[in-house]
Amino acid sequence: MPHHHDPLFAIAGQNILVAGGAGGLGWPIAQELAQRGANVAIADLNEAKAASCAEALRRLGAQALATGLNVTSRASCAAACQHVVAAWGRLDGLVNASGIYRVGAALDLADQDWQNSIDINLTGSFQLARAAGALMVPQKSGSIITITSVSSHVANQNYAAYAASKAGAAHLTRVLALEWAAAGVRVNAIGPAVTPTPLAAPIIDNPTTRDAAFAKIPMQRFGTPDDLLASVVFLLADGAKFLTGQIIYVDGGRTIS
Ligand SMILES: NC(=O)c1ccc[n+]([C@@H]2O[C@H](COP(=O)([O-])OP(=O)(O)OC[C@H]3O[C@@H](n4cnc5c(N)ncnc54)[C@H](O)[C@@H]3O)[C@@H](O)[C@H]2O)c1
Repeated sequence: MPHHHDPLFAIAGQNILVAGGAGGLGWPIAQELAQRGANVAIADLNEAKAASCAEALRRLGAQALATGLNVTSRASCAAACQHVVAAWGRLDGLVNASGIYRVGAALDLADQDWQNSIDINLTGSFQLARAAGALMVPQKSGSIITITSVSSHVANQNYAAYAASKAGAAHLTRVLALEWAAAGVRVNAIGPAVTPTPLAAPIIDNPTTRDAAFAKIPMQRFGTPDDLLASVVFLLADGAKFLTGQIIYVDGGRTIS
């Protein structure tokens, strides 16, 4: 595969776990990392899809593996990270693009929707980052990226569960960045705006929510997965070596409107 040699953005040879790597955002991210010469582990709750994604990367000539992952399980997070170490010797990067989206008016929100949002988006971000950090801190290097959301920052009606989980994941990013800074492990987050993927189908497919979401984006379009790629690559690469604890909103201006 063609490798890019700009040292500021170089990630060739890095071993990177992409959680939710079979998903609407995770898969394009995984493909970009592989195209740039990284070794990519596709980790997902959907093991069959993870396996076919990894197989597709290998067909393109990349080093890739698939591993099952349930981010709500501490043991599963540890096993996925260990899988990378067993295959390639160390873990250099984590991109957590797993997550769920549940909405409902606060007075009516199902308890299970609240709990699953917190379990997967917040506790899952913690357990997975901690599993990666346990390997990266002793090796004194690593970059962790969590895909949070504009909902880490803005309030939308009906978003109690999602926004609370994403705001928690964003602030968690800052605490972990602080704890691991001296060890050279950087922890950042990327907050996308609405991007057509299976997760966002409930927003996009309903004209009312679609128009309302669209109207809030100053650049007057929804996001696309490739809008995130430069930020992901940069945060993993040496060019970002002094950048930690930040939430980068790649959102067409959503969080300033
Ligand atoms: N699409 C958007 O509009 C948008 C906007 C902002 C933020 N985000 C965030 O980006 C991330 C990815 O979203 P997406 O649009 O790609 O969604 P998606 O539904 O297309 O993909 C999510 C992936 O996460 C996996 N997953 C779900 N639960 C899991 C678990 N417990 N353990 C491991 N993997 C699990 C799913 O199998 C799926 O492959 C999510 O955190 C989402 O909140 C998405």
